[in-house]
Amino acid sequence: MENKLKILHLEDIPFDVEMVERELIKGNIEFEKLVVDNKTDFEKALHNFLPDIILSDHSLPSFDSAGALELTKNKAPGIPFILVTATVSEEFAVNILKRGASDYILKTNLKRLPAAVQNAIEKSKIILEKENAEKELEHSYIQVRKLAAHLQDVREKERASIAREIHDELGQLLTALKLDILWLGLKLKEPGTELNKKVKVMEKLVSSALITVRKIATELHPALLDKLGLIEAIKWQSREFEKRTGVKIKLSLPSEQIDISNSTAIALFRIYQESLTNVARHAAATNVYCTLQKNNEELELTVTDDGKGFDVSYIEQMQSLGLLSMKERAVMIGGKYEIVSELKKGTKVQVVLPFNN
Ligand SMILES: Nc1ncnc2c1ncn2[C@@H]1O[C@H](COP(=O)(O)OP(=O)(O)OP(=O)(O)O)[C@@H](O)[C@H]1O
Ligand SMILES: [Mg+2]
Repeated sequence: MENKLKILHLEDIPFDVEMVERELIKGNIEFEKLVVDNKTDFEKALHNFLPDIILSDHSLPSFDSAGALELTKNKAPGIPFILVTATVSEEFAVNILKRGASDYILKTNLKRLPAAVQNAIEKSKIILEKENAEKELEHSYIQVRKLAAHLQDVREKERASIAREIHDELGQLLTALKLDILWLGLKLKEPGTELNKKVKVMEKLVSSALITVRKIATELHPALLDKLGLIEAIKWQSREFEKRTGVKIKLSLPSEQIDISNSTAIALFRIYQESLTNVARHAAATNVYCTLQKNNEELELTVTDDGKGFDVSYIEQMQSLGLLSMKERAVMIGGKYEIVSELKKGTKVQVVLPFNN
């Protein structure tokens, strides 16, 4: 050991103090020792002496090892605690080990003490390192979560603003152009001329450009979601999906608006979209059932398909990010996400959030 080991020794018999010291010296342990024999001094020493290890007699006139162990656990957790005692019952020894003591040594067998001390110190070092590593891991996990949430948020805001710009600016320009072309068409008196035909074609092109612009803007961020809320957005998305894929969607939605924040609405909507994308890409389903329901405490979204299903236990190994991003979105809004799937039966995605009416 590079530094002197700081040993706090709870003992009231000077002879025993000496015996312990002798064994430690014999065992080549370099130490600095503080001996106390009552609760007040023991508690003070935990704070002021800052021991690396505690050796404790079992029973003292005004204090005992069980009390000392409790105090250590509360005031200085992690410090190894060895019971050094004349006699204890086996039951007591097992009990004190269970309660967190590192070891117990009989005074008749003190030669075991140095090894026990070394052992306890090593063990507590390993435990401390493990705890630190766990804390660090937990910390970086929280950081990654925060970063993911932030990125998601930035992405949604960016999408909304690009959508607005495309819809408003580009949409207005194209509308103005369309009106001009219509005006031009009216000015050209003779119908059927080449010029007239060209103007008709231009009008059609501008009209389809307008449709495309609206479609791109809506796909980026459905303005419907902000204006009419989640339920209308789900209805719209479902109709679009049916048109595109031919898969039927049965909806069971609340009859009136639900009071949720914009970010919750976006998250649920994106989870719905991602689920539908998966149905279209992987499920080969004929029907989808979507339910959104609330009670006094929870809001639940489910998307179920009757497609071919898949083995959910392989999710961890899958390189894909769709399911992971759904889960992250659910966690971000304080919800729980679950996916259940059965081969040849179908898949069910479920998100449950705490909800206050
Ligand atoms: N509704 C579903 N029916 C059948 N299989 C599904 C369904 N949803 C997901 N899967 C399976 O789970 C896998 C992972 O889905 P996930 O959405 O994470 O990835 P992906 O759709 O393959 O790619 P992406 O990252 O672009 O979403 C899919 O590749 C598919 O095998
Ligand atoms: Mg996917």
